[in-house]
Formats: sequence, structure tokens, C-alpha cells
Amino acid sequence: MHRNPMKVARGGVVTGWGTALPDKIVTNEDLSVSMDTSDAWIRERTGIRQRHLGGTTSGLAIEAGRVALDRAGRRPDEIDAVILATTTPDQIVPGTSAAVQDGLGIPAGAFDVNAACSGFVYALTVAHGMLAIGAERLLVIGSETLSRITDWDDRSVAVLVGDGAGAVVLEAVDGPGQLLSWKLGADGSMGHLLQCDHGGYLSMDGKEIFRKAVRVVVESSAQAIAEAGLTVDDIDLMIPHQANLRIIQAAGQRLGIPEEKSVVVIDRYGNTSSASIPLAMADALETGRLRPGNHVLLTGFGGGMTWASAVLHWGG
Ligand code: UT7
Repeated sequence: MHRNPMKVARGGVVTGWGTALPDKIVTNEDLSVSMDTSDAWIRERTGIRQRHLGGTTSGLAIEAGRVALDRAGRRPDEIDAVILATTTPDQIVPGTSAAVQDGLGIPAGAFDVNAACSGFVYALTVAHGMLAIGAERLLVIGSETLSRITDWDDRSVAVLVGDGAGAVVLEAVDGPGQLLSWKLGADGSMGHLLQCDHGGYLSMDGKEIFRKAVRVVVESSAQAIAEAGLTVDDIDLMIPHQANLRIIQAAGQRLGIPEEKSVVVIDRYGNTSSASIPLAMADALETGRLRPGNHVLLTGFGGGMTWASAVLHWGG
């Protein structure tokens, strides 16, 4: 299943982006006061130094969305739909995207996408489909408050998570636009590896997810690169889901993408699930690492298990 850019009459380009992070920063040292862990263990095993904690999924999404709209120079009434990727909705019903629609005053449809940490790439893919059938402008957001479903006495999960949001405005253009290829995958038989019941806490089989994550990231990235008509050497920047620095390094090595081409923000933000790719993308834009003309690989994996890779030609 893939998209042939030559057959697409209308594609999309990102015209604005924004982020939101709670004010409260919690360092590894802070965590080692309340649980049996250490800064050295967390840094060596995950690459994380600190994380932002707090807020609500809708509140962070509204903040990031507002910045993205401003940067795109767009009014709320110019947006045709809000697509919110989240695995930590504020409530089961209503969808959190409706609160974002209301908070931003966007007179349009709104829906949530839950594909865990792959959610933003799923949402971006769905958004391109909507542009192809006539939408003009969409607000696509990844927002999470994983801290709310974390058992703060369980060091195996608590040291990993962070809260935050990243948003983009995606606008229709004639012709293929930025998205050259996409690859979505899911395997529900692996659901038990990372789960959270209603009212419960996140639990995971970290070692098994690690092994599977590297495999699906490498496979789906290689497929997306090939379907974009590119080779791995054409990729200027890899923006991976930020779950563990060692996963990012292992996947990059196996794909043959040098480390300096990976965007890493896990040291500052921890694992923010579906917010991690838009947060990393915003970082690459703000530091001038992501420039017009670049070929960018987005690749994520997470609960489900799900995975998603896409290749963008930045600036269309
Ligand atoms: O967003 C997508 C979903 N999540 C992931 O992708 C997570 C993928 N997995 C991982 O990132 C890693 O497996 C972890 C970071 C979760 C764990 O790293 P690991 O290298 O697989 O460690 P481990 O679970 O094998 O544990 C090694 C040791 C154990 O002690 P013993 O048995 O060797 O004495 C653990 O009890 O480290 C111990 N340990 C800790 N020590 C200090 C586990 N968690 C901690 C901790 N602080 N927080």
C-alpha cells in the first residue's frame, strides 16, 4: 500500500508550526530523590536528561496550535479541520480535538487519532488524504500528557515520559506537495507490549519493544525511502520518534543514515509519544537544520504496536 505522487492532483505543504511545553522541568536528579534510579542510569540507557511535566492535552494542543496558526499567518476561520493525534485524551468522551477546536475558535470539524507514538505521522498522512479531496488548510497536532497515566512509583516507565505538544498548519497546493511517500503499519498481536487500561497506568515490556521498534522503523523507513524514488543517501534529515536514544542510533546505523542527520530532542523532553516528532521537527526548523529542498524521513513506532514512516520533500 503506497502513494504514488505522480497520481496526486493536490498535495500539502507545512506553512506554520508551533510547540508547547509545560513550565515545570523535572531533571533525572529530581527523580532520583523519589525513586530508586540515577541520572547516570537514565542518561546511559535512554539519553534523557530532563522532561517537562504538567498541563492538559487540550491546553498544550491549543497553545501549540495557536503558535502554528500565527506563524502560518492564518486565522482560525481559514482552517478546514483539526486533527489531533493523542494517546492521552483529556476524557474518553468527548474527543480532545473538540476542546481544541473550541479553544482556538476554529469553525470546522475536529477528530482525534490514536495510534500511540506513531500518531502524528498517521495524522499527517490522513491530512494529506483530506487535502486530496478538497480541504484547503488543516491544523495537525500531536499532544500528550503521559504523566497522567504514569505510576510515579514505577521507575521502569516514570523515568521515560514527558508532556508536550507540537502542531503544524498544512495547506493544499496543486501538484504532489511535500509528501513523497508514506508507510503505515500495525500489529495488534503485540498490544500487550505497551498498554494502559481505563483508569490505569502505562505498562510496558521495554526490552521487547526495543527489539521490535528497531526492526519496524528500519523496514518501514527503507520502504518509504524506496517508494519516494530515493536512496538512503538522499535523506538529509531523519526525524524519529523519541523513545530512546539507543533506538534512534540503532535504527540510523542499520539504515545507513549518519548520526549527524538525526534530530534528537529526547535529552530535553523525554518520550512525549505523538508529540515527539512535531517537537523534533520544530527544533530542526528553529535551529535551521531543516531547510527548503531537504528530503526528510519521519519515522515512529509505539503502542499497538503501530509504526509509521513518511518521506517529505520540504518546501514542496
Ligand atoms: O514510545 C514507545 C514505547 N517505549 C519504548 O520504546 C521503550 C523501549 N525500551 C527501552 O527504551 C528500554 O528497554 C528501557 C529504557 C525501558 C530499559 O532499558 P534496558 O537497557 O532494556 O534495561 P532493562 O529493563 O534490561 O534493565 C536493566 C537493569 C535491571 O536491573 P538488573 O536486573 O540488571 O539488576 C533493571 O531493574 O536496570 C534496572 N532498571 C533501572 N535502574 C535504575 C530498570 N529501570 C531502571 C531505572 N533506574 N529507571
